[in-house]
Amino acid sequence: MKVLVLGSGAREHALAAALERDPIVTKVYAAPGSAMMAQVAELVRVDLLYPAEVANLAQELEVGLVVVGPEAPLVAGVADAVREAGIPCFGPSKGAAQIEGSKAFAKEIMAAAGVPTAQSRLCADMAEVEAALDEFGAPYVVKEDGLASGKGVIVTDDREAALEHARKCDSVLVEEFMSGPEVSLFAICDGKTAIPMQAAQDFKRALDGDKGPNTGGMGAYTPLPWAPPNLEQETTEKVVQPVLDEMARRGTPFVGLLYAGLMLTPKGVKVVEFNARFGDPETQPLLLQLESPLAQVLLAAANGELESVGPLRFTPGFAVGVVIAADGYPDQPELGTRVFEGQFRSGNIKLYHGGTGRDDLGNLVVTGGRIFTVTGRGHTLGFARKMVYAAIQAFHLPKTFHRDDIAAKAARNEIRYEVPEGGLFQ
Ligand code: AMP
Ligand code: GLY
Repeated sequence: MKVLVLGSGAREHALAAALERDPIVTKVYAAPGSAMMAQVAELVRVDLLYPAEVANLAQELEVGLVVVGPEAPLVAGVADAVREAGIPCFGPSKGAAQIEGSKAFAKEIMAAAGVPTAQSRLCADMAEVEAALDEFGAPYVVKEDGLASGKGVIVTDDREAALEHARKCDSVLVEEFMSGPEVSLFAICDGKTAIPMQAAQDFKRALDGDKGPNTGGMGAYTPLPWAPPNLEQETTEKVVQPVLDEMARRGTPFVGLLYAGLMLTPKGVKVVEFNARFGDPETQPLLLQLESPLAQVLLAAANGELESVGPLRFTPGFAVGVVIAADGYPDQPELGTRVFEGQFRSGNIKLYHGGTGRDDLGNLVVTGGRIFTVTGRGHTLGFARKMVYAAIQAFHLPKTFHRDDIAAKAARNEIRYEVPEGGLFQ
């Protein structure tokens, strides 16, 4: 089977590499892909925001499966067009992708499905914002309602900063503050049935110690040695399945990757957000550990046949991914820096590229804020970290930065979560 992957990030690089490993896959195409994805995929060009063109391309290439990486093509209706052309697609319809495209819609689904989440107010004007800030109190949580790649949120004690962020939003959601460790749980869904991946943790702030601005994600690891052992199973039962049922009931069944961003609060698990796609960078370590054949699983999901697929298998041990970002990311990443390809050869370490491309002379240069994810594994989390950071030390990467504390607390056994008396879900 030939497969077409849509997108060009480090997540798509990891997806293409994992798809290519599946024995049923004869060829992987990537559109537009990125320079380094050419190692595992043939690059083809198409505008991802034009559903009809993507569907035509998939037909011309005679692929048996399309896997959509980023959210924007989903919200534009690419999965609908591909399916209408008779080609299985792993990715939700335009209607179902609203679970990520609109936080207000996600809140509505959660309320209908009885899924625990922070209380929130969708505000029509600044007077309503002020009222909602006073109602919930500090720390203040103010979010842009639409797609913002994880960067549309501010969490602050400073009321003035909260108001200023609200003024910049097109549509504002004010939320109750929640606290506790965050978890990313990915479920592969076929509209009716869900199969969870093992849980992962993402580091959203730019700097060590969770300081600095929110980013798309600076690193991730999996699995979580500190998490309650039944977390994946219970979250699938109490969050993912009710959401799938509610989406199906509304006539917008969710086929694709449902990403539940969770907070393990003192009052139990609560949903922070949903995404309608694989997360970046969590996907990079997750797919390094995945043993199940990815193309076969995603094809079963696209065809509504997940019931026949058993639980996913993961290699024992741990994987860690650390993002190397361009100076200035996320606000104004410095682009154009030369990246030397020759430095990136190390057996146990995988580099998944997101923000690199070729300049006119064919040199590899920085083209985006998150340049690549250095991903490695080990039988312990500490060992996996050591491998990854040793590889990073060996590179010479001018005008870049990375976090030094990805998975550090978990490796030192410093994350604790006591399951509340009433259970993970209250
Ligand atoms: P989101 O784009 O909704 O995932 O938010 C980005 C990040 O902001 C989350 O990963 C959290 O770290 C933080 N955040 C979002 N909502 C809340 C909340 N209600 N309470 C505390 N932190 C939050
Ligand atoms: N890792 C966060 C995201 O993909 O949105």
